[in-house]
Amino acid sequence: MNTQFDVKENVKQYYGEELQNTQDLKTSACCTVESLPQYVKEILPLIHDEIQSKYYGCGTTFPADLDGLKILDIGCGTGRDSYIMSKLAGNNGFVYGIDMTEGQINVANEYVEYQAKKLGYEKPNTNFIHDDMENIDKHFEIESLDLVTSNCVINLAENKAKIIQKIYDLLKFGGVFYFSDIYADRRLPENVRQNHILYGECLGGALYQKDFIRIARKSGFADPRIVSHREIEITEPEIKELVGNAKFYSTTYRLWKIDGIEDACEDYGHSATYLGGHPENESRLQLDSEHLFEKNRPKRICGNTALMLSKTRLLKYFQLSGNFNEHFGLFEDCGTAVFRNSSNPISSTDCGC
Ligand SMILES: C[S@@+](CC[C@H](N)C(=O)[O-])C[C@H]1O[C@@H](n2cnc3c(N)ncnc32)[C@H](O)[C@@H]1O
Repeated sequence: MNTQFDVKENVKQYYGEELQNTQDLKTSACCTVESLPQYVKEILPLIHDEIQSKYYGCGTTFPADLDGLKILDIGCGTGRDSYIMSKLAGNNGFVYGIDMTEGQINVANEYVEYQAKKLGYEKPNTNFIHDDMENIDKHFEIESLDLVTSNCVINLAENKAKIIQKIYDLLKFGGVFYFSDIYADRRLPENVRQNHILYGECLGGALYQKDFIRIARKSGFADPRIVSHREIEITEPEIKELVGNAKFYSTTYRLWKIDGIEDACEDYGHSATYLGGHPENESRLQLDSEHLFEKNRPKRICGNTALMLSKTRLLKYFQLSGNFNEHFGLFEDCGTAVFRNSSNPISSTDCGC
């Protein structure tokens, strides 16, 4: 990018001055249309209206079963997701949020005590940091976080590879980067990448999805798993004209930090049975868009999935069989699908915000 377009100043101006609330968004990119899980719907009324009115997320970025976890929400904005996770993390968990836009993080900070009371805590289990996400390694120790989340933020980063590498380094082994973001079906031309509104609306900075996979793998997240994704329908004529034929997607990924994960799904003859008991998912557990486990029903899985179930906190919910002694070739059709189902576009008219 040339020096004329200052990414950070652009973002700060957009989120700190131009947007007052979700109604000011010019596209449907920074909105969440998927319905929230019931356990989140129950928490939402406890979150202050001002926090919710400035929510600009594009997905659902929290897995269930957060009890006791140390969590970082990158680009937390006014803290809607951070506060929801603080309820799910319980007394023994803790949620940090970081955001560089003063107007956003100030709102998050203003409600720390209020939200703690509302969510049933004697003392807050949240802390909001006003800083650039590029500095996360100054605030946290290497391998100290259980979960890193982020909702529609990485596309705004100036150096996406650098931030993803830092996230990998800060996670514990067995930890996970679970996040939603906007991706494009191609590398975007400079006039789109440097357009003030498109960048602020999370379109201009969107990574070509294959480039994201490359970056994730290089950082150590060898087998990025899609949890959900939707095409964003661009209806605004001016924006349509600017982006041309490019298509955009809102995708939620689950990226595990686990030693030994391979860049392809290999068959070693493993199988897994979900035993039930996972909070909010008693009868079935969805690991990612390709892996739905029904309670008590054994399922053949690849070596990578076996590691995701055995080297993480999911282990207590599964009975696993198999080892890595014998290799039976490639495991077909497993988890690496990219935009397989894009028949469900998000349109501006659907948009909840
Ligand atoms: C689309 S909004 C999403 C906010 C929040 N996650 C939510 O769901 O409401 C993007 C947020 O990322 C923050 N952000 C963008 N670039 C950042 C950076 N380099 N460091 C810290 N925060 C950043 C912006 O200030 C803004 O609050």
